[in-house]
Amino acid sequence: MTDNSHIYHDPVMTAEVITGLAVHPGGAYVDCTLGDAGHTVAILEASSPDGRVLGLDADPEAGPPATERLRRFGDRAVLVNANFGTVASQARTHGFIPADGVLFDLGLSSRQLDSEERGFSFRRSAPLDMRFTPEGPSAEDLVNGLPEQELANLIYQLGEEPRSRRIARAIVAARPLTDAVELAEIVARASGYRRGRTHPATRTFQALRMATNDEIGNLRLALSQAASVLNIGGRLVTIAYHSLEDREVKRFVNSGMVRPITKRVIRPGAEEIARNRRSRSARMRVAEHVGIRKGSDDKLA
Ligand SMILES: C[S@@+](CC[C@H](N)C(=O)[O-])C[C@H]1O[C@@H](n2cnc3c(N)ncnc32)[C@H](O)[C@@H]1O
Repeated sequence: MTDNSHIYHDPVMTAEVITGLAVHPGGAYVDCTLGDAGHTVAILEASSPDGRVLGLDADPEAGPPATERLRRFGDRAVLVNANFGTVASQARTHGFIPADGVLFDLGLSSRQLDSEERGFSFRRSAPLDMRFTPEGPSAEDLVNGLPEQELANLIYQLGEEPRSRRIARAIVAARPLTDAVELAEIVARASGYRRGRTHPATRTFQALRMATNDEIGNLRLALSQAASVLNIGGRLVTIAYHSLEDREVKRFVNSGMVRPITKRVIRPGAEEIARNRRSRSARMRVAEHVGIRKGSDDKLA
């Protein structure tokens, strides 16, 4: 077993996150996707000497590496093992209302992807778990328990996979499935896709992970809660890694509770993409809390 505990997840678009959140000394920020705390460290440094961060992560395994890394900031960092679907109550409990900024860096960390036991990666033999939190149904339950038609719909809707029907048929024929690589092989064969830069099982794995963790449902809940904890003028920064997430964010940003600071999504530069391949699909959006001025005629500066 490889020990990756000392290798931290490489945070995406850190400089843009700090600018987007308009980080300043004394500010109060909520990092809804703490992970390895790369962004939180940057926020605490930029808000020195007295800025504070509340860091949430649904995954209990995210806690120890982040705690270790944030020790030097003392009580300026408050870490909680919680789903961001509860961000408003967490912010209230820990004294982060009103907040000056809320950050979502969605999806999963490279630590989770590299884990030998979690089943997130189609390249590693591991039980088909894929849960951020060790409770509720796992990906294995979905793969082996859903009727073929429902499985096909799930892969189509959450994976945007056009060959979902034949993939679902092959999965049902191969049940019971217990291992991530075994599933990846069956999907690859059934899909008929060539193995290029993207693995043929990428979209199916994405769909199963999103369904297992109800990622869109939690994001929807969390975005409106995030706006409710923000100060007027407080910033909401989101980084999405696929179109379904980004669509959800875009819909929210255009809903009137917040207003976009930048009209278009912000993408990482070529240098960052070359250095950190995981950043290539990142789409960042920045919005500002406008209070209850919906319908007023003041324009974006
Ligand atoms: C891309 S990583 C964040 C990496 C982090 N920004 C860093 O610099 O290390 C996303 C994190 O969000 C967490 N996460 C995903 N969905 C969540 C949810 N609904 N509630 C709380 N945390 C969640 C994952 O467990 C993962 O650790």
